[in-house]
Amino acid sequence: MTSGVALNGVSKSFGAVDVIHDIDLTIASGEFVVFVGPSGCGKSTLLRLIAGLEETSRGEILIGGRDVTDADPSDRGIAMVFQSYALYPHMTVAQNMGFGLRMAHRPKEQVAEMVQHAAEILHLTPLLDRRPGQLSGGQRQRVAIGRAIVRNPKVFLFDEPLSNLDAELRVDMRIEIAKLHKQLGNTMIYVTHDQTEAMTLADKIVVLRAGRIEQIGSPFELYNDPDNLFVAGFIGSPKMNILPVGVEPHALVIDGQRLPFEAPIALATHATVQLGIRPEHLRLCDEGGQGLHLDVDFTEFLGGVTYLYGHLASGLPVVVQGASGLAPRLGQSIRVTFDPAHARFFDADGQRIRDNKDEVAAAQAISKR
Ligand SMILES: Nc1ncnc2c1ncn2[C@@H]1O[C@H](COP(=O)(O)OP(=O)(O)OP(=O)(O)O)[C@@H](O)[C@H]1O
Ligand SMILES: [Mg+2]
Repeated sequence: MTSGVALNGVSKSFGAVDVIHDIDLTIASGEFVVFVGPSGCGKSTLLRLIAGLEETSRGEILIGGRDVTDADPSDRGIAMVFQSYALYPHMTVAQNMGFGLRMAHRPKEQVAEMVQHAAEILHLTPLLDRRPGQLSGGQRQRVAIGRAIVRNPKVFLFDEPLSNLDAELRVDMRIEIAKLHKQLGNTMIYVTHDQTEAMTLADKIVVLRAGRIEQIGSPFELYNDPDNLFVAGFIGSPKMNILPVGVEPHALVIDGQRLPFEAPIALATHATVQLGIRPEHLRLCDEGGQGLHLDVDFTEFLGGVTYLYGHLASGLPVVVQGASGLAPRLGQSIRVTFDPAHARFFDADGQRIRDNKDEVAAAQAISKR
């Protein structure tokens, strides 16, 4: 069953308000794709466009190679799970799960069989005769997912399905959804603003901002190779440190402090840039080594790691990830340094300054002549 999804130049306006701008996106059959982005950026709208719950203003949507731009939601081969599970309170779990099939006049035995099957996958078999009021939040959410599974959709659409659950249950359900994807192998599109959910579930993350795609990539790519400051700051927790720096041929000037640095060629044309460096890529200097002076404001001991929250002389905040035993006293001044290989640079517009490898190779070849 091929069940890829393609969006070609999809836009959506509500009256005069443009909410989704010219989105091109290809999702392979069986892929788990997560839409992330700040509140109001258009994640739900995009999902609802794919579901057919909203009409596109421009562009086309294909599911399994078929143009469904004007097709009814029921005729798209999709099933959607919402944040509010919206179960019928007077029906049992089994009746809730089978409701859509009964409405579609499927034979009674077939409905019972499909409900049994979904219940087994979701470990709901012992609860089939209960009513929603007699279930925990996580169990209710599993029923809502079960209602989607019984429809045997080509594509599952999830809109923040876990955000009503408490932290521990969210983690459990996240793992359940990952297992479900492995087991069923369907295409899944999942909306969340929880970037841990995005990182752990996705084959591919789509980062949205104000109705536009900022970057598409695997969790690894987005974390290590962000295209711009927005993605760099959005993916990762605690956030990547972003510091304005002056570029000199053999040094970076950070908050008035000069650190020796062999600037890559791509930086040569910039007097000032934004340096992005993740907390785990900053480390305390050895005795006598050169580094940035930082005053420690507070520390967070998380067991395996400790985060030091400090600031530079000008007040710019900096977070350093340290080993578990690391415990500088509050107010203490420390010095930190970083491996240049992990430094990411961004221009005044927040776009990544990439070191063009060919340029570097050419320059090295010339300097050797
Ligand atoms: N029916 C509507 N009429 C007018 N504007 C709408 C409508 N639905 C959504 N919007 C607007 O479209 C934008 C995107 O909304 P959407 O619900 O897609 O955001 P979201 O990314 O899902 O946000 P959240 O994370 O808060 O759920 C918002 O500015 C919202 O106000
Ligand atoms: Mg939403």
